[in-house]
Amino acid sequence: MRYWLSFFLVLIVASIAVVGIAGFQGSKSRKPPIEIFPDMDRQPKLRPQAPNSFFADGKSSRLPIQGTVARGSQFLDTPFNTGRLPGSTNYVADMPIDLTAKLLARGKERYQISCVPCHGALADGNGITKKYGMAVVANLHDKRIVAMTDGEIFNTVTSGKNLMGGYGANVSVEDRWAIIAYLRTLQLARLGLLNDVPTELRAGLK
Ligand code: HEC
Repeated sequence: MRYWLSFFLVLIVASIAVVGIAGFQGSKSRKPPIEIFPDMDRQPKLRPQAPNSFFADGKSSRLPIQGTVARGSQFLDTPFNTGRLPGSTNYVADMPIDLTAKLLARGKERYQISCVPCHGALADGNGITKKYGMAVVANLHDKRIVAMTDGEIFNTVTSGKNLMGGYGANVSVEDRWAIIAYLRTLQLARLGLLNDVPTELRAGLK
């Protein structure tokens, strides 16, 4: 019986002490509250439009980097951006940028990064992914695809088609055209006739 009594006595004294120091929930005080879990009340972040000495210009807000396109802003409807004739859904027949050796080299590099895993270095659909069960990768020497306009291939690379996902988010617009230029050289190489080979090199062919 004694134990119970002293237990309650201690409990009551302890409760009064806690309420005395910390106050009731919701009671107002001029003193800062005791903070057991800070709940991210203070964060080392920069507030927009506030001065900040970290950057040389003393502002916390940064200017958008060059080439930033605001979300929801008008995407320029040009063949370069869409692969289509402006204001229509018709694909452009030929790529809308100049073909240069530099562009082709860039296209080769980008093709080898973004397309080879599935379509293979020869574009015949025999990439490494075939070994792992992706059996339906398109052979890009397919007559239908060789005859396809550059604009339609651009659209496939940008947004994907059927089982192929889109690469618009990974490959820049210019690189997509560069890849198409390089893909055309792969297709041409396979379609080539003996007459396309310079005379002095023909002897070396089997
Ligand atoms: C992850 C694998 C994968 C990658 C990477 C990939 N493709 Fe494909 N691609 C496919 C598959 C699968 C198909 C067949 C889609 C179908 O018809 O279902 C296809 C089809 C195509 C077609 C034919 C579309 C049509 O109209 O039938 C083109 C053109 C093409 N790919 C180009 C590219 C180019 C260029 C790249 C590199 C930027 C690329 N692909 C990267 C898997 C891939």
